[in-house]
Amino acid sequence: MISTKIEKALNQQVLLEAESSQIYLAMASWAEVEGYNGIADFLYTHSDEERVHMLKLVKFINERGGRGIIPALSQPALKYKGVRPLFEQVLNHEIHVSEEINKLVDICLKDKDYTTHNFLQWYVSEQIEEEALARRVIDKLKLIGDDKGGFYMFDRDIASLEAAVGREKGRN
Ligand code: FEO
Repeated sequence: MISTKIEKALNQQVLLEAESSQIYLAMASWAEVEGYNGIADFLYTHSDEERVHMLKLVKFINERGGRGIIPALSQPALKYKGVRPLFEQVLNHEIHVSEEINKLVDICLKDKDYTTHNFLQWYVSEQIEEEALARRVIDKLKLIGDDKGGFYMFDRDIASLEAAVGREKGRN
């Protein structure tokens, strides 16, 4: 059984993961309309992953005797200044998510809720991967600069970046 305090904190995280999914969905739609099909696919997949993050939390809260709250969401931005600012926003957002996960872990330790603490470890390692991936994408975009050919290849190959970060994580 989770405490009311932990239930509330977990439901805040449900909201943040749902917002993440919604933001990445808006970004994916923008990228698709702009003709960046590889980037759009990458972001659509990320949006789906965030929904899974949300769902895992909802199910955990319900299993532990609480009530998972499906939140109302605000309208994300419709337009982005470009691909690099978009991914800088992704990185900043993921850093924020990591901070919130760390706060949750801290609340669990203070509350001596070791079950929820254990459950959250999956999110802790997921955040390492998410931040690394966003940084990797931004590094590539910095290298490419204004090179149109490089950008074409980036859009084509972006899916493989995710696989590379996953493989590195597996080695650690
Ligand atoms: Fe589920 Fe990207 O944080």
